[in-house]
Amino acid sequence: MSRIAYTNGQYVRQADAMVNIEDRGYQFADGVYEVIAVANGRLVDGEQHFDRLERSLEGLRMDPPCGRHILPLIIMQVLRRNHIVQGFIYLQITRGVAPRNFAFPPPDTASSLVVIAGRKNLPASLDMAQGVKIVTVPETRWSRPDIKTVSLLASVLAKQEAIDRGAYEAWFVDKAGTITEGASSNAWIVVDGKEIVTRPLGQDILAGITRQTLISLARESNLKVTERPFSINEALAAKEAFVTSTTAFVMPVVAIDDTQIGDGKPGDVAIQLFDAYRRYIDQATDGL
Ligand code: PDD
Repeated sequence: MSRIAYTNGQYVRQADAMVNIEDRGYQFADGVYEVIAVANGRLVDGEQHFDRLERSLEGLRMDPPCGRHILPLIIMQVLRRNHIVQGFIYLQITRGVAPRNFAFPPPDTASSLVVIAGRKNLPASLDMAQGVKIVTVPETRWSRPDIKTVSLLASVLAKQEAIDRGAYEAWFVDKAGTITEGASSNAWIVVDGKEIVTRPLGQDILAGITRQTLISLARESNLKVTERPFSINEALAAKEAFVTSTTAFVMPVVAIDDTQIGDGKPGDVAIQLFDAYRRYIDQATDGL
């Protein structure tokens, strides 16, 4: 059965969905996006994703394609038409179609909106998880990774370098020697006394929705979370490390640049946080 996508007012077979070759997303990567998990047919932390989408649009001085209350209606239609109760939504907004010119197009140019949905089993437990490897790479992204723009080339190259070196994710290291975040995830370590450390929000990282929810869940469980930068050396000496994202939830890290982290197995804190996050998702998306 063909998947159905939404493009600019129409629900079409994904194979037939077309983007204009003068779309500014295609020519300039002039657009923003969100990836939202779907559990029990509902969006996980949907409002937080829409808040971030609005901030990204503002950051690029881009008009939304429709009112905020319309977006969930479109997304729900896409989910329904694809019979998806578990998986992910990809939503992309670009500055629209106009003759190629670096400057913004005329103000009456409509933003383009695309919504795609995919069926996928969400991570259910870490029982069988062996943990993943990380490589570190120099921070080469532009200075506003807090804006979730589709301009992702540095992250694409970093992720491929990770895969080429047998790893799952790349962590960017800034000029001060501190970890900013992963190519497509936020970075965390656990140090002495079970202190959980992750970089504070700012213009240098994406405000991960999973990150924010996990901080709340950790604090509710009386775990100590400190938002501060941490260095690559501190990460290498950490008791545990893990990454968070909409797609991975909480993924334990067992090696960084070939240095084993902790005992080389998923750590207790990561497992506890994964379980808390999984329970949170089940509760938040349960019911009518
Ligand atoms: N990536 N940092 C970066 C650079 C990211 O691209 C992502 C998510 C995150 C985690 O954010 P969240 O918890 O809101 O998913 C952090 C998504 C999944 C992607 O681009 O596919």
